[in-house]
Amino acid sequence: MTSQADAVLAAIRERRSVKQVRLDPVPRDLIEQVLEAAVWAPNHHLTQPWRFFVLTGSARDALGEVLARDPALSADKREAIRQKPLRAPVVIAVAVEPDPRRPLLDEIAAGVAAIQNMLLAAHALGLGAIWRTGRAIEDPAVKAFFGLSDRAVLLGFVYLGFPASVPEPPARRPASECTMWFDAATTAAARARALDGSSPAGTVEPTSAT
Ligand SMILES: Cc1cc2nc3c(=O)[nH]c(=O)nc-3n(C[C@H](O)[C@H](O)[C@H](O)COP(=O)(O)O)c2cc1C
Repeated sequence: MTSQADAVLAAIRERRSVKQVRLDPVPRDLIEQVLEAAVWAPNHHLTQPWRFFVLTGSARDALGEVLARDPALSADKREAIRQKPLRAPVVIAVAVEPDPRRPLLDEIAAGVAAIQNMLLAAHALGLGAIWRTGRAIEDPAVKAFFGLSDRAVLLGFVYLGFPASVPEPPARRPASECTMWFDAATTAAARARALDGSSPAGTVEPTSAT
């Protein structure tokens, strides 16, 4: 294997969602490298639907205020929510502004690929990153905060900083458990299921590689 292949595969395996980061600032050029990596993600018809909003310093407080604005919540709960964007020195909101002529799922998928690029780039640059979602991504006031259109989809927040501690890798099911290799029998069953409706879905079970 080439050293490039080794490096890419190692980055994919060794990247972790890092919750605990130091609060000291991240140099702007590192943040820009993470964003540059994002825009090399695959995207159908080159629509490049992603939008990035970089929050540092007091911009994170402003987002916290928006998140915690519900007066029906207890003061403690509101304070806990208000603090959320302060967990990292950099919070990058990632959204897609979908091209209305294209399937929405394609546009979302491109944005998701861009986020994975960001996480891998952050890891390669020695940063810790985590993708966070939660209720905030569906909150109209949060979309307004970022000036997003009604059609836009907010995909989450990438929290970035220098790692304070990196978790152990969580267990993964092996790919073989989620994979079906088509052989002659499964292909025949699949054709029958699709064309004649003769074989119920679920008949074809994942098999290991041969
Ligand atoms: C769409 C999406 C949303 C996520 N949202 C959160 C979140 O809100 N809070 C959180 O702690 N982790 C979140 N994560 C990170 C996952 O918890 C993490 O990827 C998982 O535990 C596997 O760990 P790893 O990324 O280190 O392999 C999210 C991941 C994805 C893909």
